[in-house]
Amino acid sequence: MERRGGAFFGRRKGKPLRPGQRAALEEVLPTLLIDIAAPAPDDLQAFFAIPTRAFRMEIGFGGGEHLLHEAKTHSDVGFIGVEPFENGMAKAVVAIAKDKIANIRLYDQDAAPLLDWLPPGALERIDLLYPDPWPKKRHWKRRFVNAENLDKVARCLTPDGTFRFATDIESYVEWTLEAVAKNRRLALIGDPLGDHSEVWPDWPGTRYEAKAIREGRRPAYLTFRKS
Ligand SMILES: C[S@@+](CC[C@H](N)C(=O)[O-])C[C@H]1O[C@@H](n2cnc3c(N)ncnc32)[C@H](O)[C@@H]1O
Repeated sequence: MERRGGAFFGRRKGKPLRPGQRAALEEVLPTLLIDIAAPAPDDLQAFFAIPTRAFRMEIGFGGGEHLLHEAKTHSDVGFIGVEPFENGMAKAVVAIAKDKIANIRLYDQDAAPLLDWLPPGALERIDLLYPDPWPKKRHWKRRFVNAENLDKVARCLTPDGTFRFATDIESYVEWTLEAVAKNRRLALIGDPLGDHSEVWPDWPGTRYEAKAIREGRRPAYLTFRKS
């Protein structure tokens, strides 16, 4: 399978995998991976053996805790989870296999080329939850939110589809609000001057969020709608 990388600045590997995680990556992951070297299907139902009514994507799912929660809560929705960090992917694949979850497909590289490959208007929601913050100004250009990636996100969303963004880094809130303000197809739901602290309904939190709160940082939740 051809593996196109794209621009990814994070870590690919962490501590050594446990034997069960290694086995999950070798045996189960290939059955769930999306291959963007193949032609994209017109209808994402082709990715799922069970009937689905809509499709959502989570970019940078970490260990997959939120992705799994969503997939279990919405068994009629097909989810695409994207995570290039091997240890996070291994954790998620172990849980997907253990819980026999049939409505998740995976991609283990930079999300940007996958967004380019998907058919337009395919996803009713895209979640970007606590993307790598790159807090130092000289690294801001590495942030996932940029004009090109917002165009890719907007292209993949259904009319009225939503893009959800969470961060605990104040400069990333402003960065994202400014970037989206320049995008012709995405618009913030709510007051740009609000504090963005209102959590989404049925929000299980994420692992990274719990750490941020423990360390005294305050999460912000932004939702944008495609017009
Ligand atoms: C700070 S972690 C947050 C993980 C998880 N969303 C959470 O809240 O616990 C950001 C994750 O985004 C992933 N990531 C970074 N750049 C990415 C990219 N270009 N495409 C997809 N995932 C990416 C990283 O590997 C990392 O696991």
